[in-house]
Amino acid sequence: MSTEAKQNEKIAAAVMGYGTIGSGVVEILEKNRDVIAKKVGKEIEAKYILDLREFPGTPVEHKIVHDIAAITEDPAVKIVVEAMGGVHPAYEFAKACLMTGKHVVTSNKALVAACGTELLQIAREKQVNFLFEASTGGGIPVIRTMYRSLAGEKIEEITGILNGTTNYILTKMDRCGQTFESALKEAQDLGYAERNPEADVEGHDTCRKIAILTAMATGKEVNYEDIPTEGITRITDMDFKYAEKLGRSVKLFGSSRIEGDKVTAFVAPVMIGPEHPLYSVNDVYNGIVIKGNMLGTSMYFGSGAGKLPTASAVVADMMEAAIYEGENIPLGWTEEKQEIEPWENASFRYFLRISGNSQSKKEKVTEVFPDGEIVELSGCCEFGVLTSKMSGAELNQKKAAISDVIGLIRAE
Ligand code: HSE
Repeated sequence: MSTEAKQNEKIAAAVMGYGTIGSGVVEILEKNRDVIAKKVGKEIEAKYILDLREFPGTPVEHKIVHDIAAITEDPAVKIVVEAMGGVHPAYEFAKACLMTGKHVVTSNKALVAACGTELLQIAREKQVNFLFEASTGGGIPVIRTMYRSLAGEKIEEITGILNGTTNYILTKMDRCGQTFESALKEAQDLGYAERNPEADVEGHDTCRKIAILTAMATGKEVNYEDIPTEGITRITDMDFKYAEKLGRSVKLFGSSRIEGDKVTAFVAPVMIGPEHPLYSVNDVYNGIVIKGNMLGTSMYFGSGAGKLPTASAVVADMMEAAIYEGENIPLGWTEEKQEIEPWENASFRYFLRISGNSQSKKEKVTEVFPDGEIVELSGCCEFGVLTSKMSGAELNQKKAAISDVIGLIRAE
């Protein structure tokens, strides 16, 4: 058969959820139809769109279905996109599609973090694929990089700015001196913050993403609930005034450090200096640093959220599934469980704010943290100290010796 004739053949797909990402997928399949067909060898067409709504008068009106059976019972459908969000009924629908021998591609980190192990296992049994590039880092190709390009590495560390909304808020607080509340409102007005900003600002979104990356790195299931998670709601404009004085900034990190079988993982704001590779990742962008035992440090940067960047990653997974039709791509994520070590054992520098500014108090702080850097803001009845590196246990011991600690941020 000629290449042109093959390109006229179609692979039927279905899209579950016609919201921001689902509609982005349909748009890309249409706009980039030629390039997709050329690379896959066949055109990929969205045959069905599953949604509760009707979308009358739009080009997708005739594709809308409301019952998952329309998709699972049509053998022509080979690839299903899950872009509904949340765990239920996304899990039940994704499982039903895999069980009926269809590839499932998702952008849904909640689904992957909660049910990834089981859905990957079903995909292996059915010789199809469960792919989730868009679930972490949006349009940044980090998942595929991990299972393909970094396949021969022992991953030692993953540290990422994995949430665009919080990075936007922190950038505004840093650069424009805005308060947390006004920067959050601006992020909501611009449509960056999700319906419930809690998932972003409390670090839950980042937590699921670092759990997924850690599972990819270790090849074991990571329970995201085991990852200590702290969001950015306690970061204030005062913290940024100190950070500026120290030539530093504050970023929300999702991080895991892997030493043999031991994994320490956390989500927390971290005060970093310009020498850190993630220092210049600002606004809604995401950045991910991955250290491998042979590779050393690598970094991935780009749009971590948004309709078309995220949908672009979904479409790339659909193409991967279409190219590997009838074959399960090994991602290396098994059913074995990964323990997460208590993070008190991990070492950080710390930035502490202490109320009062008497000489005796500063002397006491210098005595407790002899390697610490004292920082003062003019006209303020408080001061800060940036400590040297120590374990959480050591910090707690030292903190007990100082009264009036009013703020604490990890630092690197
Ligand atoms: N709310 C997420 C973010 C969307 O701001 O990064 C992408 O997962």
